[in-house]
Amino acid sequence: MAIIAPSLLAADFLHLQEEVEMVNRSEADWLHLDVMDGQFVPNISFGPMVIEFVKKVTTRVCDVHLMIEEPSRYFEQFKKAGADHINIHIETCPRLHQDIRQIKAMGLKAGVAINPHNPAWLLSDIITDVDIVLVMSVNPGFGGQQFIPNTFNKIKEIKKLIVEKGSNALINIDGGVTLDNASEIIAAGADALVAGSTVFGAKDPVAAIKALKNA
Ligand code: DX5
Ligand code: ZN
Repeated sequence: MAIIAPSLLAADFLHLQEEVEMVNRSEADWLHLDVMDGQFVPNISFGPMVIEFVKKVTTRVCDVHLMIEEPSRYFEQFKKAGADHINIHIETCPRLHQDIRQIKAMGLKAGVAINPHNPAWLLSDIITDVDIVLVMSVNPGFGGQQFIPNTFNKIKEIKKLIVEKGSNALINIDGGVTLDNASEIIAAGADALVAGSTVFGAKDPVAAIKALKNA
């Protein structure tokens, strides 16, 4: 069974507490928190302040996805806010190795996120240092986009790299995950699935999480 990480980006922010409590009642494992700065990605979402409030209610692992320029400026703030995982983009980190070390030295799990246009082999010299690879299956910035089919291949290539290098990294897939494609994504080698609109857009979000879990 895959790890399921509902993405709060698709939640109703007027009723954030109820949304987080729904996730607490569900079979979800992680809560995915999308931080966007309007620079690295066109959209602006939320920052450490919102995560601090979410942390008071959630019983799940806080999987923070930083879609921001120079993310290391904010590691301490996100740790204080309650992040358990910090995922940073290979595209924003010229000193990725150092940044990953820093996240781990803070006692958090470190993830590297990779955009759709970047090939799996770019990860070959960082794969043994990370806890998570966050494979973007859409261009980051917005929820509700279509899954990019090339991701299936990329998952297989990353899985191969993980095995070859003896890495313990988990593969997490982010963007366009639906009840229709979840089982194929898992079959390709994914360990975890992020789902925003599939969960929060469902009539019964707890049932949608259950269905993803059993995919
Ligand atoms: C996209 C974000 C995703 C997004 C996924 O930039 O990183 O986590 O919330 O949303 P869905 O599941 O609706 O594609
Ligand atoms: Zn995300």
